[in-house]
This record gives sequence, structure tokens and C-alpha cells, in this order.
Amino acid sequence: MNYEAFINEQIEDIRKTVGNGIAINALSGGVDSSVVTVLGHRALGDRVKTFFVDNALMRKDEPAQIVKLFADLKIPVELVDARAEFIQALKGVTDPEKKRQAITDTFYAKVFVRLVKKTTARFLMHGTILTDIEESVAGIKRQHNILSQLGIQPEQAYGYKVLEPLKTLRKDGVREVAARLGLPQSVSQRMPFPGPALAARITGSITEAKLALVRKATTIVEEELADSGAFQYFAVLLEDRATGIRDGKREFGHIIVVRCINSVDARTATITRLPWDKLEQISRRITQLENINRCVYDLTPKPPATIEYV
Ligand code: XMP
Repeated sequence: MNYEAFINEQIEDIRKTVGNGIAINALSGGVDSSVVTVLGHRALGDRVKTFFVDNALMRKDEPAQIVKLFADLKIPVELVDARAEFIQALKGVTDPEKKRQAITDTFYAKVFVRLVKKTTARFLMHGTILTDIEESVAGIKRQHNILSQLGIQPEQAYGYKVLEPLKTLRKDGVREVAARLGLPQSVSQRMPFPGPALAARITGSITEAKLALVRKATTIVEEELADSGAFQYFAVLLEDRATGIRDGKREFGHIIVVRCINSVDARTATITRLPWDKLEQISRRITQLENINRCVYDLTPKPPATIEYV
């Protein structure tokens, strides 16, 4: 594959399609949306409006870091604080599919549709890749028709157009393009992170306190396993609790699961055989967090487990 030619073709295509119009895209910091952002800006300059939506579910400092990374590339990204809306939408929701639906609905039907109106954009750029399309067709992934998720009906949709410049690539191709566009390794080789973000890593209802806990545990796992070479590693906060002892007193505390897997394409995964010293070090640090008195390591491959917990 000639990636330079691919990049030039996509830029040309975006220019031709958008003409003098305005395009919009949402950046999550993942490699797909990052590549779309750079392609869009190379094609359209300031006629593409890029937003990072803070949904309260991101990792520590993630929103500010991503905005800064793009600012350093001279690409302005507007940070949208939608934390309260997402927390409200997730209140009391425990069913995994309903949780995912609440996040999708809040993003598209509330936040993003508002941004589309505000910018008067008629062109929506999206980081759909070939695997997303295949999995949607196969019924593995929920459909990702952006216009219908935005509540834009076909009859009203005249003038709206979705651009998916990466729809012929798989993840490895997107990573190649990212590197060639000058994105740093922290983006081009970024570890997969799910759309529902930390909400995929809390079983049961989601609260700000639980998010804060899983966020802290995530930071520890990511620091400790940064050089593990594993495909994905993270912390999960369980709904269940367990008895422990802290400062000589019994404590009914939280349980954190550490997950670290190897995979090629996330369709299947094997667990990694981490050294005991490393596991003990992670457990020690995690159980120092307030009200967490147990840390367990997940030994389940995919299948039968999925990678995420929600
Ligand atoms: P599962 O949990 O299905 O995850 O084994 C497979 C891979 O996909 C990631 N994942 C998602 N990525 N939106 C995404 O963009 C999502 O809703 C989502 N759910 C899971 C997961 O982190 C793993 O790499």
C-alpha cells in the first residue's frame, strides 16, 4: 500500500466534497479520530471544527493532554465540558448494554448534535475503519450510522454528509498513516481504549466516586505495565465488595481487577504471564488507594471473556 498516495487522495477527496463548506469532527485521542483530525485540517484548515468532548469517563488528565498535543501540532481543538450530562445519563444504570446506550445517546443526541448546529457544519468526519464496517454488518457491533444517531432523518438530511476517510483501512494501516502524518508514537501506537471509556471498566452503577477510584487504579496499572509490551492493560472496579483490614479495623472495601492481555486484533486475546514481583507491586500500590482492599489478576482469555467488563 502506498500510504503517501493514500494520504494525498483522502485530502483531495475531503477538499472536493466539502468545497467551501464547514466540517466537524469529534476527537477522542484514539488513533482513528486523531488521523481524521489531521487529514481534515490538512484539507480544510480552519474550516474543520474539531471538538474533544469531556464525558467524565476519561483517564487522568486525558482531555487536557490531547488538546495540548494537537495545539502543539497547530491544530486547534475545542474542549467541551459535558461531564455533568454524562454522569446524569448514567445515574442508576447498571445493565451493560443500557450503559453503553446511555453514553451513545448522550454523545450523539445531546452533545454532538448541539455542536453540529452551533458550527452550522453539514459535513461530519468520522474515523470509521474497515473492521467497524465488517463488525456492524456481522452484527457484532451496534450500527454506527451517525446521521440516524444524531436524530437527523433522511428527509431532513439533505445537505448533511458523512466523510469516512479511513473506511478502507484496518488498524495497522491507520497506525502507518498516523506515523506518516507526523503524529507522535503516543498516538500512532496508542493502546486501544473503548468508546465508553472508564464506564466499560465499572460493573454496576457509575458514580463520580467510583470513576475517581478506577481512574487512579488505571494510572497505576498503566505506569507499571507501560513497558510490558502487552496489547492492552487496565484496571476494573467491581460492583461487589469484600472484607479487609485497614489500620487494624475491618473494612468492607472495593475490589480492583487488573487485566493485561495479548492480542493481534482484539477478536481473541490471551492473558499475559506477568512476573509475580510486578503483580505484587501493582497490588501493593492499588490497595493503598482509599477503600480498596483487594486486587485480583484476571486469568481469562477471550473467549470466553471479552476484553472489557461492560
Ligand atoms: P471486547 O471487550 O469486545 O473488546 O473484547 C474488544 C476491543 O475493543 C475495545 N472496545 C471498544 N472500542 N468502542 C471502541 O472503540 C467500544 O464501545 C468498545 N468496546 C470495547 C476493547 O478495549 C478491546 O480493545
